[in-house]
Amino acid sequence: MVDTTTIPTTKNQASTLSEGKVKKHIKLTDINYRRNTESDYTERIEELDQHFDYSSNSDYYWSEPELSLLYGTPLYDQASPSQKKALNHLYWVTQYNQTAATEANAVLYNQVTAGVFKNLGGYETLCQELELETAQERHHIHAFHMMGYKTKKALLGSAFNTSIQGKSYKKNDLSQKVEVAPKERSHINTPVQPNLVKPTPSGINWQNAPWSAFQDASFRFITHKVMLKHQTHCYSQYLRHLDEKGEPIPAQTTGLLGLLAPRPFLQFFTLNCGSSPFLASVFYVTRFMANMLIKNYEYRYSQYYRELEKKEEFIPAPLAVSHYHLLDEAFHTTTSQLIAQDLYKDFSKPTAYEQFIANLIIYRAQIVGLSGFSGGIPAIFRNDDTFILSFYRLLKSPVFDMSTPEALQWLQKCLCTEHEGFYVTFKYHQRLLLELRRSFERIDYLWPVNREMRVLASGGSIDRAIQNNIKSFKQFSQSVA
Ligand SMILES: [Fe+2]
Ligand SMILES: [Fe+2]
Repeated sequence: MVDTTTIPTTKNQASTLSEGKVKKHIKLTDINYRRNTESDYTERIEELDQHFDYSSNSDYYWSEPELSLLYGTPLYDQASPSQKKALNHLYWVTQYNQTAATEANAVLYNQVTAGVFKNLGGYETLCQELELETAQERHHIHAFHMMGYKTKKALLGSAFNTSIQGKSYKKNDLSQKVEVAPKERSHINTPVQPNLVKPTPSGINWQNAPWSAFQDASFRFITHKVMLKHQTHCYSQYLRHLDEKGEPIPAQTTGLLGLLAPRPFLQFFTLNCGSSPFLASVFYVTRFMANMLIKNYEYRYSQYYRELEKKEEFIPAPLAVSHYHLLDEAFHTTTSQLIAQDLYKDFSKPTAYEQFIANLIIYRAQIVGLSGFSGGIPAIFRNDDTFILSFYRLLKSPVFDMSTPEALQWLQKCLCTEHEGFYVTFKYHQRLLLELRRSFERIDYLWPVNREMRVLASGGSIDRAIQNNIKSFKQFSQSVA
């Protein structure tokens, strides 16, 4: 039997790299860190966040119209100018709510992985950059939450606070399924604590469950005594400090990573990428995927910002936030790319176990975040069934004020018939696929399904998306009736 765990021990950076490579590495990180330190994009976002007032921005589009909820649908064609602007604003809220959740993942795993790199020596500037990025993400998240909150409150009124277990229809299997949709998870009043424990959708708080101590001990045994036993000296300083305080292994249940698996598996992942330098680097492959997913639409915001700036027209605050966020994230994307494509080569060749975990994580990231195709939210690669309840609530909200039969009728027209919105998503889908394939070409340990982003590729079918929507709509309408 092949021993998948006793392959070369992790070596320090200095001893595994050629001189030239070390220099190139350090140079790139130094430049990125210096430029990021000198920039003031985060400060500008903070200022826009502090002074944001929805009513001062409500009369303007925050992007070109195609970045709007339900864009290109029969409903969009008939919507009034003010409804179209509301759909445009709510699109921003939706995208950045998800972005905030994904960046909360970065807040946690930047710290976990920097704690590993610190043990190796030679990565001091990289760790400083990761600390800076973590601080920046906290400000980004705050701005996305607060501006989103004010916008939703102004547009949706009382519908904004309607719980999905509210009285509008009976709680049933479908409502429970939609309950876990990230868009529905409000983080408005949630401070960003990377090790924050939240009950899972099933209502179980895994951390307080009686078996959690046993579970933690089992994970530690498997990780440190069996699978990664030669790498215990790399164990993250960040996790070590949490251990000393008696805190459990942290994990998050939101954002791209939070959707990968139930909480115990996420804790196991935390332990793995906080113990193996190679698996710490793999986090940056998923972070790079998230960076590119955000950039895919955020770049369009930035272009629109520049157009308005050139014409000396009013620039709505959320648009400016998107623009400055793109600029801030350019530093983060460079870091992700550097680690995902190059830095992992500094370490010992990954064991079969490490390669398996790496590919499994990336495969799952494709499944949960990139395998679908939305006709209702342009540039989103998850199926519309995830959002169907939100669309329904939107149609019944003060923005459209529809009766139940009207809302259902329009929902069907918007989701189950071919329209321009599907083609807008297709355009963004092709762009992302191309970018990711180009970037993953040179990562040698990836399975073909990951290197070629086959899950993302197979999700790009308008016909399949409509067929899925027909099934989901049928199930949903029966639950509402
Ligand atoms: Fe960010
Ligand atoms: Fe970031």
